[in-house]
Amino acid sequence: MKFDVVNPADVEAAAEKIEKEFGHLDILINNAGVMLESIGGNTTLSISEDDLRKTFETNFFATVAVTNALLPLVKKSEAGRIVNLSSILGSLSLGATEGSPIYEVKAFAYNASKAALNSYTIHLAHALKDAKIKVNSVHPGWVKTDMGTDAAPMEIEEGAKTSVELATLGPDGPTGGYFHLGEAISW
Ligand SMILES: NC(=O)c1ccc[n+]([C@@H]2O[C@H](COP(=O)([O-])OP(=O)(O)OC[C@H]3O[C@@H](n4cnc5c(N)ncnc54)[C@H](OP(=O)(O)O)[C@@H]3O)[C@@H](O)[C@H]2O)c1
Repeated sequence: MKFDVVNPADVEAAAEKIEKEFGHLDILINNAGVMLESIGGNTTLSISEDDLRKTFETNFFATVAVTNALLPLVKKSEAGRIVNLSSILGSLSLGATEGSPIYEVKAFAYNASKAALNSYTIHLAHALKDAKIKVNSVHPGWVKTDMGTDAAPMEIEEGAKTSVELATLGPDGPTGGYFHLGEAISW
């Protein structure tokens, strides 16, 4: 179905369709994301306010809006799982640590939007800690997609692994975490 995450009418229509056809939602993977900067340099002083806002609109505000719209259906699942597609570039601790693998990658809007998304994961997991729902952030790896480009080392199937793993966690699995291929990442 047509589902532009920044279009409230599409979000509402999706929620209505899922409710009508299935009555509940087991898995919500918030995958849509944009990077409007070129990767490599430090864009902090050069990015336009418009691009900064657009990046947050898709990567952060739309994720919150889509999740809020679909949460009543996730609550009706026996074991609801919410997966937020973050990035290692959203790690504040690694971004602040000289010598870390991402220290020189300073795509300001993208990195800040994923850090905000990680904060949402922590807050939503806490808000839902007494429900059967688990909420986690994912770093898929550097993956050969339009965003990742052909320079990326990981194939798409491997890049999907962490999301699938967290979408299918058993009842004893973690919530409120940040993971890549089974390993926790520091926030
Ligand atoms: N590739 C990597 O190396 C990498 C690394 C870390 C994190 N991630 C994250 O992984 C997620 C997927 O990225 P990707 O690599 O597949 O990027 P991509 O190749 O640029 O694809 C982005 C996806 O997001 C969708 N999207 C963008 N804006 C949307 C909107 N307003 N409504 C609905 N869908 C929208 C696009 O849909 P359309 O094609 O229809 O526009 C496309 O399917 C993103 O959140 C990204 O930040 C990727």
